[in-house]
Amino acid sequence: MLKTVTGVFSYRKIDLGTRLLIENMSIPLEGSTVLDMGCGYGVIGIVLGYLSPKSEIYFVDVNKRAIWCTKENLKINLSHSLDRTHVFRGDYFDALKEENRIFDAIYTNPPLRKGKDEFLELIDEVKEHLSPKGYFQFVIKRRMGASAILEHLKEHYPEENVMILNKKSGYWIINAFYPST
Ligand SMILES: C[S@@+](CC[C@H](N)C(=O)[O-])C[C@H]1O[C@@H](n2cnc3c(N)ncnc32)[C@H](O)[C@@H]1O
Repeated sequence: MLKTVTGVFSYRKIDLGTRLLIENMSIPLEGSTVLDMGCGYGVIGIVLGYLSPKSEIYFVDVNKRAIWCTKENLKINLSHSLDRTHVFRGDYFDALKEENRIFDAIYTNPPLRKGKDEFLELIDEVKEHLSPKGYFQFVIKRRMGASAILEHLKEHYPEENVMILNKKSGYWIINAFYPST
């Protein structure tokens, strides 16, 4: 069960893009540190918490209600593992400033209400927060500029490290590996 409230993204039902990301995302090896960026009510990170039972799961969102829902949903769904979940309210990686963490995997269904430029900036920041074998996976609507985002990624990661994991119902699920040279 997932608790949601009005004012939180897709509070009535799991967003189709989110569902497609969850269905296609890579599950980290045991003992990884992963981040659900822009977690909303926490569904992506909670699934990771189930499927990767030894990983540390970080959640970040700027929205107070989203953070409240995430904490409630962790109590409902991962009550025996709360010590390996970490929830932060704030602006993207600024929210984690004090933590000084790098991540083995970062996942997002990004906020695109203000257009894609904000997401392009986030893409640049993600690279600074990935471990040497880390990867970044996200979902994007094709018509929200998926091609341009893919091109932008290829400027920051070796081209062969950027791939489309799946295309479905107008969404692209994209994966980028850290350039481990
Ligand atoms: C498209 S929603 C995805 C929510 C959730 N991951 C899901 O899939 O249902 C994007 C989320 O990013 C959050 N967000 C927007 N701007 C943000 C920022 N500057 N820092 C962190 N989170 C932000 C929004 O509050 C929203 O919950």
